[in-house]
Amino acid sequence: MNGALSGKRALVCGASQGIGAAIAAALADMGCAVTALARTQEKLEAVVTALPGDGHRVVALDIGDWNALNTAISLELAEGDIQILINNSGGPAPGPISQAPAEAFSAGLQNHIIAANGLTQLLLPGMKRAGYGRIINIISTSVKIPIPNLGVSNTIRGAMASWAKTLSLEVAADGITVNNILPGFTQTPRLDKLIAATATRLGKSEDEVAQMWRERVPARRFGDPKETAAAAAFLASPAAGYINGVNLPVDGGRTGCL
Ligand SMILES: NC(=O)c1ccc[n+]([C@@H]2O[C@H](COP(=O)([O-])OP(=O)(O)OC[C@H]3O[C@@H](n4cnc5c(N)ncnc54)[C@H](OP(=O)(O)O)[C@@H]3O)[C@@H](O)[C@H]2O)c1
Repeated sequence: MNGALSGKRALVCGASQGIGAAIAAALADMGCAVTALARTQEKLEAVVTALPGDGHRVVALDIGDWNALNTAISLELAEGDIQILINNSGGPAPGPISQAPAEAFSAGLQNHIIAANGLTQLLLPGMKRAGYGRIINIISTSVKIPIPNLGVSNTIRGAMASWAKTLSLEVAADGITVNNILPGFTQTPRLDKLIAATATRLGKSEDEVAQMWRERVPARRFGDPKETAAAAAFLASPAAGYINGVNLPVDGGRTGCL
């Protein structure tokens, strides 16, 4: 533990597994108290129990339910300010955009943009009081190059990146930064599910699909969620105070543009 975030609290969304759980661990390792949010109470409790340090808490709800989110986080804020917000949730369902139902767009907006904007509005007064805020959004490399068969996801991720850039301009003078992490293939339960679905669709084995995807990455391997979390922990730290409004791919070099 290096203590760079001691005395601070983070709200980490999507923290019950995968990238979110790894970010909760990385922030706690820097001395930060963590409020871990996702739908599954038992998984959240297991994550929080394993965190170093004290004062960690759990909020179990569906991030798409704004009334529940607003009530729960207002109660959290009654316990004290939160200076670090990690916006993260499950990715929208795959499929071609030409066949995407209207409800898929509504759900994507609700779970990503509306939740992130609502949480930001709740947390901003405390960040301003502290003169310190870090808003970090876990999005996707599809912000730079759309990924085939992820129509709704590509659309929502682009909107999220644009939301973040706009917000970064509004809050920078208060010591608050807003940045996006764009994960590439990262070894989490979501990646396992995508590999299984693709194997079924293409009539290949899961090993064949995984190998095909690894070969698309210059590093020739999938990322470890801890590697994504290390980037988030740096962006959350005082050392990253002059980095604002950027998209940071953590993708083993896969994204074929700057
Ligand atoms: N892994 C990759 O290769 C990769 C690549 C590019 C982008 N991404 C994106 O990065 C983000 C994190 O990825 P990941 O691989 O860590 O995903 P993951 O393994 O599916 O984990 C998603 C997390 O979000 C929570 N969650 C999902 N829906 C929720 C909801 N409605 N309300 C509250 N919590 C919810 C899940 O917990 P509960 O089920 O307990 O709610 C879980 O903790 C996702 O948006 C994903 O699309 C991932």
